[in-house]
Amino acid sequence: MLIAQISDCHIQADASPLDALANPSVTLSAVVAELNALPVAPDVVLATGDLTNDGTVAQYAELSQLLANLNIPLLPLPGNHDDNDIFCQVFAQQLPTSLANGHCSYVVDDYPVRLVGLDASVDGLHHGDFNDERAAWLEATLAEQPDRPTLVFTHFPPFASGLVFMDISGLRQIERFRQVITAHPQVRLVVTGHLHRTVSTTIGTAGVAGCPSTFLQLGLDLRPGRGSFTNEPPGYLLHRWAGDCFVTHTATVCDKDSFDLSDFATQVVEGVTESNDYLPGR
Ligand SMILES: [Fe+2]
Ligand SMILES: [Fe+2]
Repeated sequence: MLIAQISDCHIQADASPLDALANPSVTLSAVVAELNALPVAPDVVLATGDLTNDGTVAQYAELSQLLANLNIPLLPLPGNHDDNDIFCQVFAQQLPTSLANGHCSYVVDDYPVRLVGLDASVDGLHHGDFNDERAAWLEATLAEQPDRPTLVFTHFPPFASGLVFMDISGLRQIERFRQVITAHPQVRLVVTGHLHRTVSTTIGTAGVAGCPSTFLQLGLDLRPGRGSFTNEPPGYLLHRWAGDCFVTHTATVCDKDSFDLSDFATQVVEGVTESNDYLPGR
């Protein structure tokens, strides 16, 4: 199973000072085009929040138009820059009917890996909160199927990244979230957005992957009190489930040249396949 992840598209309908670095509609279009053209098509695309910049109707109209070009099923989650009511209306077709009560969390059981989307955003606030309601929902949801490999996707990173101003405006009650994940070792991977950078860490036996933005990345400056956006290329992640573990690939979307190695690759694959030393895809 192949799971693509995009995040933090920050679609804006009007001019912004950030236009000097990049335009979020242009960069999201480029990411959508690259995902559609991947030689091995992902089974699903997770979109982990901050899909618009201000949660306005106009921004969601622009976002919908851009995502309509995606040829892969989409599972979206809101972030702190989204408006949950408009979000749920706009994505009514994509969201499962079994949404949690009062928040946009849900489960998809149609794939070899169980996909659990946790919405920890709080309307009107910049930070997220793994509060009683969200904790009870996640605990009960994970307890339903303790033996199925599971991926949890959510907007806010459940760890301190060292990008201090983002950590402060991140998730409240992180330790509570980590305890729930640790208590359910069927969770093999937790994937997040919000940081606008590719990051990785662990929680118990689960890997944790943070997704780059389809728009701008945060400057890699770990000094407290510093922060910047940079026009490092937009990106996305590909999480490949090989039947016993996840491997996450990071892709950047920019002009690329390539040198074809297919002849060599074919020779290598055919050579070792005959000797049965290595079976690709296993
Ligand atoms: Fe963001
Ligand atoms: Fe965010």
